[in-house]
Amino acid sequence: MAHVVVTRPLVEGGLTELRKDHTVTVCDPPEGAARSEEELIALADGADVLLTVLADPVTERVFAACPDLKMVAQYAVGIDNIDLDAAQAHDVVVTHTPGVLTDATADMAWALLLAAARRVPAADDYVREGQFERWETTLLLGTELADKTMGIVGLGRIGAAVARRALGFGMNVVYHNRTRANPTVERQTSAQYVELEELLSTSDVVSLHCPLNEDSRHLIDAAALGRMKDEAILVNTARGAVVDEAALVEALSAGSIAGAALDVFEDEPDVHPGLMEQDRVVLAPHLGSATTETRTEMVHMCVESIRARLSGAEEIPHRAV
Ligand code: DGY
Repeated sequence: MAHVVVTRPLVEGGLTELRKDHTVTVCDPPEGAARSEEELIALADGADVLLTVLADPVTERVFAACPDLKMVAQYAVGIDNIDLDAAQAHDVVVTHTPGVLTDATADMAWALLLAAARRVPAADDYVREGQFERWETTLLLGTELADKTMGIVGLGRIGAAVARRALGFGMNVVYHNRTRANPTVERQTSAQYVELEELLSTSDVVSLHCPLNEDSRHLIDAAALGRMKDEAILVNTARGAVVDEAALVEALSAGSIAGAALDVFEDEPDVHPGLMEQDRVVLAPHLGSATTETRTEMVHMCVESIRARLSGAEEIPHRAV
């Protein structure tokens, strides 16, 4: 029997299968937003498998202090909280949950974009606050999306799903990737490859879908924001640190972009106070994959990977390294 430590509760029922053959310890959520390395090491003591979320810092120190660890199963597609070089050095398999959260995250990007473009949060407040006394010709005017240009930064699975939805809304789509997408994806999304500078200066909506790494950290900085149109809306459902949040606040305050739709933040769960004050900004608490269907399937994927690893299979499904 192996010992699987799950760093916080998951959706009901998903771990039943695993419990038949292994000892599964599900930890309470941390008191604060994230666990420290020390707390994670204490939880992982003697564990064969750690099932982690983005807020768990799985660092070299954690690997070095947990010599029994055979696997880290990440309950997310993004794995920027895990030191992958250290995992390899310590011979620890890392898996994640790609694919299953594509549509949920693309829907969320669109939900936030539509909310920002049509001022849905302000409209909701207006009605609840009893301000709706008559229909008015200029009340809460928003922006249309049809015939506008959507610029996708990172045409991977989620970026492509956002692009397909953009076609349904009658938008033109351009994209930028480190490496150009294959012709099939370009055809399916009708997305035209452009350099980042061109994407920023021509798009009415810029939607971020790239992973966070040293190349993409603060990719959207003051200079990038300065290239965007005054009427543009920035959508971020990727990782907060892809955007320089302080620069974003300045750009919004100066009116050099029109709005932002943000599901992720540089220092989650803290949100830059300047964003809270902005009228044309829609904020969500990192809900990209938060549907019952997706979160349940994510548990199944983790369990599938864990069972394969613990049974000594050579092929581990959903392996990242
Ligand atoms: C992911 O899977 O990377 C999401 O951001 C977490 O829900």
